[in-house]
Amino acid sequence: MSVRENQRLQLQPLSIPSRLLLGPGPSNAHPAVLQAMNTPPVGHLDPTFFTVMDEIQSLLRYAWQTENPFTIAVSGTGTSAMEATIANVTEPGDVVLVGVIGYFGNRLVDMAERYGADVRIITKPWGQVFSLEELQTALKTHRPAILALVHAETSSGACQPLEGVGQLCREFDCLLLIDTVTSLGGVPIFLDEWDVDLAYSCSQKGLSCPPGASPLTISPRAWKKLQQRQTKVTNFYLDMTLLSKYWGSDRVYHHTAPINMYYALREALRLLSQEGIENSWQRHRQNAEYLWQQLQDLGLTLHVEREYRLPTLTTVRIPEGIDGKAIARQLLLEHGIEIGSGLGELAGKVWRIGLMGFNSRKENVDKLVTALKQVLSKSI
Ligand SMILES: Cc1ncc(COP(=O)(O)O)c(C=O)c1O
Repeated sequence: MSVRENQRLQLQPLSIPSRLLLGPGPSNAHPAVLQAMNTPPVGHLDPTFFTVMDEIQSLLRYAWQTENPFTIAVSGTGTSAMEATIANVTEPGDVVLVGVIGYFGNRLVDMAERYGADVRIITKPWGQVFSLEELQTALKTHRPAILALVHAETSSGACQPLEGVGQLCREFDCLLLIDTVTSLGGVPIFLDEWDVDLAYSCSQKGLSCPPGASPLTISPRAWKKLQQRQTKVTNFYLDMTLLSKYWGSDRVYHHTAPINMYYALREALRLLSQEGIENSWQRHRQNAEYLWQQLQDLGLTLHVEREYRLPTLTTVRIPEGIDGKAIARQLLLEHGIEIGSGLGELAGKVWRIGLMGFNSRKENVDKLVTALKQVLSKSI
């Protein structure tokens, strides 16, 4: 056999331009997080690493304001933790009610269908949210085993209020599952006070970490449903009954943990704890309000009503006659700033601007607004 010399590439070492990531995510990682990630890996069964895992669990409980014993980080991006929630508590035939207020609600629908659930859907135009009364009516009509909602819908910029929803779910004997991918660290979340049973998130937004390790928490109530399953969890990699033996005191191998990702996540969560979760929420709010004012001063319109606007992700209507994608491209190539375009119902209609984690700073708003002013003035 001969080596295929024609496949051998002679490349320069990796070189990536510096970008200010003000889109829907990923957002820039904190320099200390990148430094922690650079620490040489130890083995995934090394006692030192178990300490890191334990610290991640405690720090996550603080970030989410929960006492849930089962609180871990899944190896993978937000979608893996999302799939873990559905895969573990859904059995074929379970009625799963999904409140769809944007793109990621539809992803939950797709996943629940793949796991054999009897999926029921309620929808709102992208940018709006459900009232408690609407959710109550839907629970009465569908009597689901699980209600799944996206707390922070990254595609629309809307924040679904959750106060009272968990209590309703208990009245209807149903589990409450929420997506906190664009809210953890940046938007107030009180998982236990809100009686949330399953929640997941990601590392690359409000936690100032690269993508790859995704928070997941399961309440004792939801854990009971998992233990009472008639069928095995159909996804081996995401089977939390197996993973609980690695994250818990047994320390049994399941898969090789992405060691350096967990170093990074531990540092990101440590920084959040050092700042204080309430201070972080307040910082996100202040900088978002500053951004909103600046954008409105430029004559731009924000898509979501102020009361339901996410401080982490702002949707801005693209003015009539402007090529939104061309503006975003110019911001990236001429100013090194990334913003997002619209998805689905909002494709071509909005830009999506993220101020998340380490990036939620006044100086970043100023940089973006100055650059946006320039590119818009050239295109009018
Ligand atoms: C609300 C929401 N849910 C889920 C996801 C999926 O996360 P990931 O892209 O990290 O897999 C995203 C990603 O942006 C999101 O914004």
